[in-house]
Amino acid sequence: MMVQKIITILALALFILLNSISSPAVADIMPNIDHGAAVFKANCAGCHAKGGNIVRRRRNLKSKALHRNKVDTQKAIALLVTNGKNNMSAYGDKLSTQEIEDVAAYVLQRAENNWK
Ligand code: HEC
Repeated sequence: MMVQKIITILALALFILLNSISSPAVADIMPNIDHGAAVFKANCAGCHAKGGNIVRRRRNLKSKALHRNKVDTQKAIALLVTNGKNNMSAYGDKLSTQEIEDVAAYVLQRAENNWK
């Protein structure tokens, strides 16, 4: 009985320990799509209204282009927004990590719905 109890406690302690190590802060960010919409309107819509791209037409935010250009995951979009690319400036200093995740999730969701 006693041994069983100790094993249970040890297992529980190990579980808690592993959980706290294996989840870095970044992975804990839950995107807020509603806030992402506001971030998009304020920072992105100037060039990407309705998922388009007024600077480089084929680099738009529609599902097909995101797949073609391999920016079709939240991680890839967040990375591009953070660092910028060619004529698109970086937002790493302008937006928080949370805001970037929010806007990336928003872009993906709108792309899935064909920006309708
Ligand atoms: C000044 C205009 C401009 C603004 C503002 C802008 N972008 Fe861009 N964006 C571009 C250009 C130009 C590219 C193409 C970059 C390249 O690959 O050469 C691009 C590419 C992208 C791509 C990749 C699209 C693809 O099909 O390859 C994503 C995703 C993206 N932008 C998201 C955003 C988000 C989110 C914001 C706001 C935080 C934003 N952009 C703000 C101009 C802009």
